[in-house]
Amino acid sequence: MTLSDRLEAKIKDILEHPERRQMKIVSIVGARPNFIKLAPVSKELRKEFDEIIVHTGQHYDYEMNKLFFDELGIPEPDYHLGVGSGSHGYQTGEMLKRTEEVLIKEKPDMVLVFGDTNSTLAGALAAVKLHIKAAHVEAGLRSYDKKMPEEINRVLTDHCSALLFCPTETAVKNLKNEGIAKGVYLTGDVMVDALQENIKIAEKKSKILDELNLNPEEYYLATVHRAENTDDFSRLKSIVDAFCEIRHIVFPCHPRTEKCLKEYGLWNKLKNMIKVIKPVGYLDMLMLEKNARKILTDSGGVQKEAYIFKVPCITLRETTEWVETVEDGWNVLVGAESKKIVGMANDFEPKGEQRDVFGDGKAGERVEEIIGRL
Ligand code: UD1
Ligand code: UDP
Repeated sequence: MTLSDRLEAKIKDILEHPERRQMKIVSIVGARPNFIKLAPVSKELRKEFDEIIVHTGQHYDYEMNKLFFDELGIPEPDYHLGVGSGSHGYQTGEMLKRTEEVLIKEKPDMVLVFGDTNSTLAGALAAVKLHIKAAHVEAGLRSYDKKMPEEINRVLTDHCSALLFCPTETAVKNLKNEGIAKGVYLTGDVMVDALQENIKIAEKKSKILDELNLNPEEYYLATVHRAENTDDFSRLKSIVDAFCEIRHIVFPCHPRTEKCLKEYGLWNKLKNMIKVIKPVGYLDMLMLEKNARKILTDSGGVQKEAYIFKVPCITLRETTEWVETVEDGWNVLVGAESKKIVGMANDFEPKGEQRDVFGDGKAGERVEEIIGRL
């Protein structure tokens, strides 16, 4: 297609669908994984629609926030709500209140929310209570553990969303089991889009392996930040004991975990035994993941990335919403027991074939295309 053909097709499209040009979409984000999921979707949305980004302020440290906007080329948010940290009630309530004010002013046609954070739930609630359609990117995931704040956020967000963009077939089935079939679309996982696009950039730009003096497959990568691990002294101590025994670990430490480790008097012991570093940017993280011998984590996104990079994953939880990674034998759920963690760090050797479960890296395009068809 020549440039003039493309231009002609575009003009025809605008004349045939004048409503699309005017469609205004508000994307609501606030925490690290929200930003990574927003990036590929926003890029596509902006080709066709008027997108406004609202940042709740849930994450605010440079390396949990701005670094991701810079690396992933996400446009500067139109609104910063500045909510910050606090209890679940405070955080979700303030976000709901402040998001509502923006939505009343902007009157969007649709609100897009991502994943399972408090920012996700607050954004969806603010929208539906104003009778604005909410669309959930990464809908349908379930760990079936209602003690996890994320599980509450997912279930409630799904049940008030008009459009549900599912990353996997399992997610579609989960929704069906809860009576949700209308507005459900299997798009693939937007985190695959982000990974595929950014690993090429990371391979060229990231210097993290040299900076930390690491050789591929000679180190373990660890992340820990789930409330059930950080807020429980005995679980966190047990994880720390395991890490100190395994030794060759790089641990980009979430601020929540740093705070708890210091409070429990475990910080210095861990720092002396393994490489504890600040949270890293997405490009460095992809390189650390891809080259790790094994990954130890309680993160949702990191379990998935380990699977995609074919790096064995040892999950420091009893449940997972990414069941395919376990079914295929590339992920093992060990909880927080020291002995089990160390045992798996030594012995876990995945053998299973991988299915193509998370999509083809075009989930963002599908989200845009489905919204455009409405
Ligand atoms: C949140 C999400 C979780 C997600 C994680 C991603 C909820 C309920 N949880 O958990 O699903 O996996 O983000 O990283 O939404 N803090 C800082 N600086 C920051 C951000 C946080 O110091 O920039 C500290 C504060 O002490 C804060 C604590 O971390 O109280 C927890 O932050 P919060 O956003 O409440 O939850 P996360 O544990 O980050
Ligand atoms: N991540 C990152 N730097 C870090 C830790 C994680 O870039 O120091 C990325 C990781 O690669 C994944 C996402 O953050 O893409 C996962 O977010 P997180 O673990 O904070 O939340 P979860 O996925 O558990 O909700």
